[in-house]
Amino acid sequence: MATYIVLYLLASSILQCGVTSAQDDHLSDDICFSEYSCNVGEDSNYFKAERDVLGLHHIGYDTAEVTIQNSLPNTMENSINVSLQSTECYQCKLLHIATIDARMNTTIKVDTAWPTEWLISSTSISKAHNCNNTVHFGENGRYTISIAFIDAQRSVANCTFTTPGRPQNANLPIYIAISVYVGIAVIYIILLQLKRSGLFTKLLSCLSVDRLVDSDLGTPTLNATEITINNSKATKKTRLRSLDTFRGIAICIMIFVNYGGGKYWFFLHSRWNGITVADLAFPWFVFIMGASIKLSQTAQYRRGESHGRIFLKILKRSIILFGIGLILQAGNDLAMYRVPGVLQRLAASYFVGATLQLLSLKPPNEARLRNKFYRLFADIFDYWYEWVLIILSMVAYCCVSYLVAADGCPKGYLGPGGDNLKDSSLSNCTGGVAGSIDRWLFTKNHIYQRPTCIILYNTSVPYDPEGALGTITSIFLTFLGIQASKIISTYHSPTSRLSRFLIWGVITGGLAAILCGVSKNDGWIPINKNLWSPSYVLASAGMAFILLAFCYFVIDVMNWWSGVPFFYAGMNSILIYIGHEILVTFAFPFSWKAIHDTHAEHLAMNLIGVSLWIVISMWLYYIEFFLKI
Ligand SMILES: *[C@@H]1O[C@H](CO)[C@@H](O)[C@H](O)[C@H]1NC(C)=O
Ligand SMILES: *[C@@H]1O[C@H](CO)[C@@H](O)[C@H](O)[C@H]1NC(C)=O
Ligand SMILES: *[C@@H]1O[C@H](CO)[C@@H](O)[C@H](O)[C@H]1NC(C)=O
Ligand SMILES: *[C@@H]1O[C@H](CO)[C@@H](O)[C@H](O)[C@H]1NC(C)=O
Ligand SMILES: *[C@@H]1O[C@H](CO)[C@@H](O)[C@H](O)[C@H]1NC(C)=O
Ligand SMILES: *[C@@H]1O[C@H](CO)[C@@H](O)[C@H](O)[C@H]1NC(C)=O
Repeated sequence: MATYIVLYLLASSILQCGVTSAQDDHLSDDICFSEYSCNVGEDSNYFKAERDVLGLHHIGYDTAEVTIQNSLPNTMENSINVSLQSTECYQCKLLHIATIDARMNTTIKVDTAWPTEWLISSTSISKAHNCNNTVHFGENGRYTISIAFIDAQRSVANCTFTTPGRPQNANLPIYIAISVYVGIAVIYIILLQLKRSGLFTKLLSCLSVDRLVDSDLGTPTLNATEITINNSKATKKTRLRSLDTFRGIAICIMIFVNYGGGKYWFFLHSRWNGITVADLAFPWFVFIMGASIKLSQTAQYRRGESHGRIFLKILKRSIILFGIGLILQAGNDLAMYRVPGVLQRLAASYFVGATLQLLSLKPPNEARLRNKFYRLFADIFDYWYEWVLIILSMVAYCCVSYLVAADGCPKGYLGPGGDNLKDSSLSNCTGGVAGSIDRWLFTKNHIYQRPTCIILYNTSVPYDPEGALGTITSIFLTFLGIQASKIISTYHSPTSRLSRFLIWGVITGGLAAILCGVSKNDGWIPINKNLWSPSYVLASAGMAFILLAFCYFVIDVMNWWSGVPFFYAGMNSILIYIGHEILVTFAFPFSWKAIHDTHAEHLAMNLIGVSLWIVISMWLYYIEFFLKI
């Protein structure tokens, strides 16, 4: 406990030093404008400040203050209207924020995560001369916009923009955190090298005290224990550490994001279209789950287990995963019970993916493998009917998504809906058909109530990012993960494995780029985590193949890295996922109610949370406890 407190004080004071000042607190309760970073649903700040009608519920981060001075002459028609909108809000209208009478000032808060588009108008200023601009305000900055006439006769006004309070670099805490972790890694590597070179044992043997203690307690000499450890490791060597490390990386990102990601927009989920670091964790986890399906089935098959028995195991695991997911979401309000969820989605993808794979579980066809051309593509040819099924399911997905009109929404609309859209007829169309299916299948009260778009777009319809229709594309992703394990079990040389991982990475990544037209909102199929759109699945699979190739090369081929510390997290991923879900809100050592509410504090807190789970998984590995479902 004492170490923990010291660690926290150290980390947060290091991180704080970049980002304090400008804390003069007379920002008062003027008018707030911003977009609240609603992530997976853990943010209790959400309910804290009901007065902030426009959703700026945080004080210390992602905000700037803008004072607007109306310096027009004091007459009735000289009052001005101020409207704003975040540029992140796609196809949104400007929101009327304030009306300021002549000779008056108003201070508003604006969001600094994305640029803000603003418009200041007045009946006495001609439309062509409205003050109208897009500005990316800086964290904790203070700005002034002053409006005065240049030529009152011709209704020409002038907006002057000044910055009396310089903004801060919001990303400074990230650089500091990276330096801290790099420092820890360097120290670890140095200690490891010292240990390997035998310097430690030499040093220890110099200290006669230690020798005395050793002989007193009758412990065996260091060398003897080391030899036995090495032996037992050598026999276990068949397991691919890169797969566990990959899984560990995915689960660590997932926990970090669920804890709040330091409240940085790029460590939180996209508001609608687009992809952030946070959006990669879950698909990578699905991918790597697929990547171990084929390997474990082959192992069971070799042990002589029948297809029926393997299927029963698949069924049992899926039901248990699904059940745990339901229980984790229980809360105490059964009328608002959320049915879909992360573990439920995992369970469904696993069940379909593994069952599909089981159908083709048979010994490799040695005769055909002798054909050179066949051998080159054996990891695909052997499973052609799976491809047929998967492609059919994707065609069905696209037909439903783009050709069905539901709930009075136009066919093919897959946007976030909401009252902030220019087109008010779309306001109840959140998520298009995918949303309609869930609201009909599970009913409105039994799906996720606070989708990531809720504040930015002012959506009033619930939408579930782990809904039913997206399960089809997540099965496709599982299938791409299974492809990785087909490669591993069909080919044994590192070169043929690595080249295939990379080729798959380039093909899936390239397809994603074509589908989304290398554009956030304007392509054929934008990348979207809320919908699990095909381009999103392909993009995350592409990155997963490349990351897997990297891990495999560095860890299993070259032995440059042992996968520490992610390897440990990957060995007990489900356990630490469940653990962090249970302790997600304000369970002290892992997270707490932010005091300064700054990026620095949130980042320190969330990184400490993840680091603690890594330490716990190391300990579990040490005592050889592995949760198997
Ligand atoms: C959101 O839309 C509702 C109407 O559905 C409106 O009353 C409310 O003021 C809007 N909130 C914001 C922040 O625009
Ligand atoms: C508005 O701001 C200006 C400059 O800061 C100040 O001189 C003026 O007194 C303010 N007016 C009001 C009504 O607060
Ligand atoms: C300013 O806003 C008010 C209320 O929304 C509206 O009645 C008025 O016409 C607006 N004036 C201008 C110049 O847009
Ligand atoms: C903002 O300014 C641009 C040109 O500077 C103009 O084309 C546009 O119509 C203006 N927008 C509004 C809402 O006045
Ligand atoms: C706008 O006002 C500022 C200061 O009041 C002045 O420096 C600037 O020249 C004015 N711009 C125009 C186009 O008159
Ligand atoms: C959206 O739903 C609300 C509440 O059910 C309803 O009042 C509103 O008219 C609907 N809007 C549209 C555009 O259908």
